[in-house]
Amino acid sequence: MTHTRIAIDGPAAAGKSTIAKRVAAKLGYLYIDTGAMYRAVTLYTLENGEEIIDEIEDHIHITFGVNNEVYLNDQDVSEAIRSQEVTKNVSYIASLEKVRTYLVDMQRKISEASNVVMDGRDVGTTVLPNAEVKIFMKADPEVRAKRRLLEEQARGNNYTLEELTKDIVRRDHIDSTREISPLVQAHDAILLDTSHLSIEEVEDKIIRLVMKHL
Ligand code: C5P
Repeated sequence: MTHTRIAIDGPAAAGKSTIAKRVAAKLGYLYIDTGAMYRAVTLYTLENGEEIIDEIEDHIHITFGVNNEVYLNDQDVSEAIRSQEVTKNVSYIASLEKVRTYLVDMQRKISEASNVVMDGRDVGTTVLPNAEVKIFMKADPEVRAKRRLLEEQARGNNYTLEELTKDIVRRDHIDSTREISPLVQAHDAILLDTSHLSIEEVEDKIIRLVMKHL
């Protein structure tokens, strides 16, 4: 049986996960947050040392719960992977070949079993190059920083807009200039600038694109 795969890529805080979750819920597809997987590996290396990456498959097992919780070796790390320390280090860890090979393989395996909406940086280019629908989502850096500020405030974190802008720009730079699977729009991805669109409008546009393919 063939499955429908929706790849949503784009820079940090472009709204990918909010939209991807809603689209997946609406269609009854599985939602896979690949950024959460890189964050989980980063959390583990911060706690256990980077040398574990040489035998990453012996140390790290990542699964998702029914409400998109992230489990690292059966422990719910959904909150812990959003810490400042993890965010600061994740783009470096995500640039390492061993880490990418391991996670990309895991992401492909998950997508074999069901219809998926997968968001990240390299889903349309590397993980699922034959995905039925590919979206590259972008938004102005100021818009992205403001969205992230609201998210962090909702979590009870007091960052400034400047701090968040700096982090977004820094991560985008590392992600788009790394050697392996850099952040880049796939040649066959549809570009969606969400700067001036509401969540509902973006969701609607994507659902329409998916419907055209079914
Ligand atoms: O999506 P999120 O911002 O949580 O991703 C955290 C980081 O994980 C990104 O800044 C990037 O360095 C890395 N990442 C990646 N490839 C993906 C998804 C995320 O390199 N497919």
